[in-house]
Amino acid sequence: MRGYQAAILAVTGLIIAAIAAFVLYGGGGYGGRGTAAVGGPFTLVDHTGKQRTNRDFQGAFALIYFGYTFCPDVCPTALQVMSQAIDRLSPEAQKKITPVFITIDPERDTVKELGVYVDNFHPRMVGLTGTAQQIAKAARAYRVYYGRSKSGGNDTSDYLMDHSSIVFLLDPKGAYVTHFTHATPPEKMAEMLKIKMGS
Ligand code: NI
Repeated sequence: MRGYQAAILAVTGLIIAAIAAFVLYGGGGYGGRGTAAVGGPFTLVDHTGKQRTNRDFQGAFALIYFGYTFCPDVCPTALQVMSQAIDRLSPEAQKKITPVFITIDPERDTVKELGVYVDNFHPRMVGLTGTAQQIAKAARAYRVYYGRSKSGGNDTSDYLMDHSSIVFLLDPKGAYVTHFTHATPPEKMAEMLKIKMGS
């Protein structure tokens, strides 16, 4: 595939993701509406090999993003925005929020793979993987769409994934507060985190 074709496909994917986000989450922008029933129980394995459930992340706010380590641009952007936003908080506030990356590509994103990957973004970022069924259940709870892309690599190992690109903010009880996207500027995200976290 030529570069411009890939670019058109990428843009189309982003538009679809944006429309899906608007439809699913009410297009509330940075503020959201806070009424969507997003989230739910999950059991997964973290990037150190430890079993983690949704309850392990309660007691602190969480920024949760679903993506995959092979993603060429959108996922790294989202994780960078999350990390930079958290770094803009006060040291006390930083301890009260956990960045979480859940893979939607468990086939390639093993525990080891995730460990190397999350370290690139934030020292406190938790990477989560699991069986295909466990990931499907977690994604369903957050109404995250994902699937193997028809574009990209032809090889069985370098395929691309299509997926929604939403950064969820959950409160210390695990309830949905608001959401962002990979296109949210880090300073805007930080501003909203300060308001929502009351810090
Ligand atoms: Ni991605």
